Amino acid sequence: MTSSLNGKTVIVIGGSSGIGAAVAKAAAARGAQVVLAGRRLVSGVENGLRSEPVDVTDAASLQRLFETVGRFDHLVYTSGPNVRAKPLVETDLNEAQENFNVKLWGSLRAIQLALPYLDEHGSISLTSGQLGRKLAPGQFIKTSINAATEALGKQLAKELAPRRVNVISPGVIDTPAYAGLAQEQRLAMFAKAGGALPVGRVGQAHEVAAGYVLAMENGFMSGAVIDIDGGGLL
Ligand SMILES: NC(=O)c1ccc[n+]([C@@H]2O[C@H](COP(=O)([O-])OP(=O)(O)OC[C@H]3O[C@@H](n4cnc5c(N)ncnc54)[C@H](OP(=O)(O)O)[C@@H]3O)[C@@H](O)[C@H]2O)c1
Repeated sequence: MTSSLNGKTVIVIGGSSGIGAAVAKAAAARGAQVVLAGRRLVSGVENGLRSEPVDVTDAASLQRLFETVGRFDHLVYTSGPNVRAKPLVETDLNEAQENFNVKLWGSLRAIQLALPYLDEHGSISLTSGQLGRKLAPGQFIKTSINAATEALGKQLAKELAPRRVNVISPGVIDTPAYAGLAQEQRLAMFAKAGGALPVGRVGQAHEVAAGYVLAMENGFMSGAVIDIDGGGLL
């Protein structure tokens, strides 16, 4: 069966790594024209896909991205900061604010600037994370950013209709987000986190990418939060 993504233009902000790169690959495999965007990218071709530079903390940079691409059909936003989990009393709030600036305010900035170019029948897929609803000590930054992102997705699904807006909420996924840990430490963390899940392992980026594909393809899906977390919220 032909995918409804066939021939559509999809911009993946955060497409330079991890979950975003997997979404880009999955959408391209369904015939979409994909534009990857991230700070480390330059205008050109990356892994066979069109790439453009963007810094989501900079409105002018986002504006340039949308002007360069022109009309498009689906916006996927997976950009996220490297959050240092600490109790509130030990947290540098300027750093926390910068984390919000990348993921929450970055989403808002991108959506606002994308709207003149985004097809009326298109969609927006945002990214939260299971910590939005799974409370853990020291994780207040991720919890509040992700909870706000989920509320925003539902609100904008009403406000921006007929454009559809959905949120994908990953659990622990093996991506370069954990590249800061030494390999041994990373594998031990994945084994522990995965062992505590009903499915017995952490997730892979392509498994989460399937959620974004669903959100883009399914014309009856709007205001949804799609949990792909191996049962982590149970
Ligand atoms: N992996 C997990 O276990 C997990 C769990 C729950 C939620 N999530 C969420 O899933 C999303 C993707 O995470 P990931 O695991 O795929 O991480 P990742 O591999 O580290 O990717 C993060 C992406 O964010 C982009 N980014 C960061 N700052 C940016 C900026 N200022 N402007 C533009 N892009 C920026 C990076 O691109 P450049 O460096 O090229 O700018 C990169 O493409 C994040 O929102 C994360 O919070 C992940």
